[in-house]
Amino acid sequence: MKCVDDFRLHFGKREVVPIVIGGMGVDISTAELALEAARLGGIGHISDAMLPTVTDRHYKTKFVSEKQKQYKLNIQIADKSIVQFDLAQVAESTRLHVSKTMEAKHGDGMIFVNCMEKLTMNAPRETLRVRLNTALDAGIDGITLAAGLHLGSFALMEENPRFRDAKLGIIVSSLRALQLFLRKNSKLNRLPDYIVVEGPLAGGHLGFGMDWAQYDLRTIVTEIQQYLQAEHLDIPLIPAGGIFTGSDAVSYLETGSAAVQVATRFTVSKECGIPEKVQQEYFKTSEDNIEVNMLSPTGYPMRMLKNSPGIGAGIRPNCEAFGYILDANGNCAYIDAYNREVALHPDAKKISVKNKMCLCTHMRNYDCWTCGHYTYRLKDTSHRNADGTYQLLTAEHIFHDYLYSKDNKIALPPQSLP
Ligand SMILES: Cc1cc2nc3c(=O)[nH]c(=O)nc-3n(C[C@H](O)[C@H](O)[C@H](O)COP(=O)(O)O)c2cc1C
Repeated sequence: MKCVDDFRLHFGKREVVPIVIGGMGVDISTAELALEAARLGGIGHISDAMLPTVTDRHYKTKFVSEKQKQYKLNIQIADKSIVQFDLAQVAESTRLHVSKTMEAKHGDGMIFVNCMEKLTMNAPRETLRVRLNTALDAGIDGITLAAGLHLGSFALMEENPRFRDAKLGIIVSSLRALQLFLRKNSKLNRLPDYIVVEGPLAGGHLGFGMDWAQYDLRTIVTEIQQYLQAEHLDIPLIPAGGIFTGSDAVSYLETGSAAVQVATRFTVSKECGIPEKVQQEYFKTSEDNIEVNMLSPTGYPMRMLKNSPGIGAGIRPNCEAFGYILDANGNCAYIDAYNREVALHPDAKKISVKNKMCLCTHMRNYDCWTCGHYTYRLKDTSHRNADGTYQLLTAEHIFHDYLYSKDNKIALPPQSLP
């Protein structure tokens, strides 16, 4: 019987352990987590979601307060179209986060950045161009294009000197999305270096409708594999979503996948950015407490714990400070939902917005507890302490469990002393 360590992911002459820790914004997949993956020989992701607030937290920059100060007079105004990002600040925060992470890197693995197209930032093309090119300039090993079709993203990097040497990959949830991407980019003479195929059991936003339960990862992977074979395209495939044990991973590696991308297991690692109190909620949760809903203003379904404090909160839209989901015209579905609720209850001190969530604020504050479908199995991966809490794991322990486990077994960590 094989284990994941019997396989390697090949990028040309380079070989890495075929375990990719997926990007988790906002700063859930921290630099520390990505660095561990690289140290252990695999691939880790940082995320480029809301980097100005992330660097404020880690490197004492003042990007968010500066932006909020600049647009202070707009806070009471519903029209957010003037609330633009300063591109130099976007670049500086990206440069800081990426270069500091890359400077700290040890080991044979790689560090990629997860870049979500749905963070439209009130100027989708311009902000995306800066995010992508600055990450390349700051030395990232690779970029995973996520959350959106990214039909124009390769072209935005075309002039970058690293366009052909950095690893560039894309996340898709269907063959159709992949075909569209390949067709749109055919003139650039540059294929993606890897394709992450994300199924409906993943965490974060889903690339499916609310009928997500009718799809299954293995079917989509097989379909894409057959297509690539027929087209004589040799691009590594990396399935993601619900791969919970080393044996789950082996079943994909044995049938032609090049690596697996995993995330949920690492949400309860010490290196993960989720505060420990919230990590205990992930451990404790039951299957009934996990839902896929349409609360995200992006319009994509998102999976989260039903007891996330952000659900039903009625905070004022925070676009002057954040504003990552403002579309090209300065609109966000949360602003509309909020204004509707205010109009219905003009005298209320506190309102509750039920059908949308201010995702920027609640992801930034770890109050939107997005999670993978199998989060309810996390309790089986650790020890329960006498006080009812669970023992946090090290990323190394989880990584090694994926790498060496057989027979669908999950190794528990050494029990820490009370
Ligand atoms: C808490 C959490 C946050 C996530 N955030 C993002 C994200 O910001 N961008 C993204 O492309 N995928 C995101 N994902 C998806 C993961 O990168 C990964 O592809 C997927 O969750 C793998 O499935 P698994 O969690 O069942 O192992 C997130 C997943 C989790 C669990």
